[in-house]
Amino acid sequence: MKKISVIGFGKIGQAVAANILTHNISVNAIDTNIELSKSFKTNKFISNEPGITKILLKNFHNRNLKITNDYSSIKNSQAVIVCIPLLITESKKIIKETFLDCLKDIAPFLSNKCLLSVETTIPVGFSRKTIVPLLEGLGKKHGVDFYLTYSPERIKSGTMLNQLLKNPKIIGGIDNKALEKGKEVYSLFFNNKRLQAVSSIECAEMVKLAGMVYRDINIAISNQLAVFSQKANIDYTEVLKLTNTDGEAFLLNPGIGVGGHCTPVYPYFLIENFNEKGLDFTLAKESRKINDKMAAYAVKLIDEDIEQKKALILGLGFRPDVKEDSFSTSYILHKTLKEKNYKVFLHDPLFSNHEIKAKRFIPINDIYSANAKVVFLVTNHSTYTNINWKKLRKSGCDCFVDGRNSFDKKIVESAGIKYVGIGK
Ligand SMILES: NC(=O)c1ccc[n+]([C@@H]2O[C@H](COP(=O)([O-])OP(=O)(O)OC[C@H]3O[C@@H](n4cnc5c(N)ncnc54)[C@H](O)[C@@H]3O)[C@@H](O)[C@H]2O)c1
Repeated sequence: MKKISVIGFGKIGQAVAANILTHNISVNAIDTNIELSKSFKTNKFISNEPGITKILLKNFHNRNLKITNDYSSIKNSQAVIVCIPLLITESKKIIKETFLDCLKDIAPFLSNKCLLSVETTIPVGFSRKTIVPLLEGLGKKHGVDFYLTYSPERIKSGTMLNQLLKNPKIIGGIDNKALEKGKEVYSLFFNNKRLQAVSSIECAEMVKLAGMVYRDINIAISNQLAVFSQKANIDYTEVLKLTNTDGEAFLLNPGIGVGGHCTPVYPYFLIENFNEKGLDFTLAKESRKINDKMAAYAVKLIDEDIEQKKALILGLGFRPDVKEDSFSTSYILHKTLKEKNYKVFLHDPLFSNHEIKAKRFIPINDIYSANAKVVFLVTNHSTYTNINWKKLRKSGCDCFVDGRNSFDKKIVESAGIKYVGIGK
């Protein structure tokens, strides 16, 4: 049986592994978190990602999936796929060291033209200018010991397995031979028709970043138009819907903020790439600022009307029905409200009270027991579609800030609660 090593067995590594396993190829997953393999041994592993838990547990018990922190287990792998993230500091600088240390751990086991494919989101040029020199500096030769490809992971939490079946799988190689090797390996677990070979590894690197920055800038445009609409007494949600009917505009929804480990982070990779070329990606920088200021804008919309400073935030997840809080807007909103002396409660049905407390919020199990004067909806979890507005009003709520413009103003206001949307 063929064997592929997946380095970094987090959300992406698990989805990548599950896809490979369903094609009758064994997976050797390497992760520094030793709790992961313990959770499989004790049958306690649960993924929030639909479909993943069953595939992984079954294959772990069949011994087709091995989970370890031992890099020597890479030996005899057809390919090594890297899925550990490249993070940024508070001051938005890319932290490269952890990733490079991981490559140093992999290097001794690269031999016999093994495919090394990076799926981690990286800056443009990182494969050629950083990864290859590092590995060659460690005595491993491209084309002899390994071939390097880059294949951006463009799937999203909540629908990963589904998207792995549908999205074109982009592959770029350091050279043609690397690309051919990449195509050969990826075709073992992707339909050939969906494999999209691109002309350079840099092109593959940039595809992911361009997608992320497009999204952020597009939302920033909508956010600014929404702010204007609110002042001009125009319903921006109506404007947006109609604008998008001309076949050319694809405006995204405005909102209280942009969260997640991708959209608010990866524009900084391209900003750094621009800087390296002596350019200034002003549009991306400004968009990041605009989107990060939306939480403060939402607070400003209601602050003067709220006498008793007690607020409830609905949702910590950055995406509806997904238990993932990286760069969630709730953090920025919480900070803004605290600076204005609000007592702030947080409700998220997907997180335990213990988890919410660990993230420095005051948890509340029942949204009607917070007695908050203002309620902010940050995450449109499906549970919130059933809010009992009369009951919320009775609990003391004067104002509901719909950070995702997903509720009917008339219904909320018929319960005696003031409704405030973002441009609505
Ligand atoms: N999560 C998503 O929705 C998503 C979507 C598209 C792309 N991505 C990209 O996928 C990459 C991985 O993201 P993720 O969400 O899976 O991250 P994650 O934090 O869920 O998982 C990363 C895993 O890597 C492990 N790890 C860290 N350093 C390691 C090392 N040196 N050796 C072995 N394991 C190590 C961690 O313990 C963790 O289990 C990122 O580049 C991200 O941009 C993520």
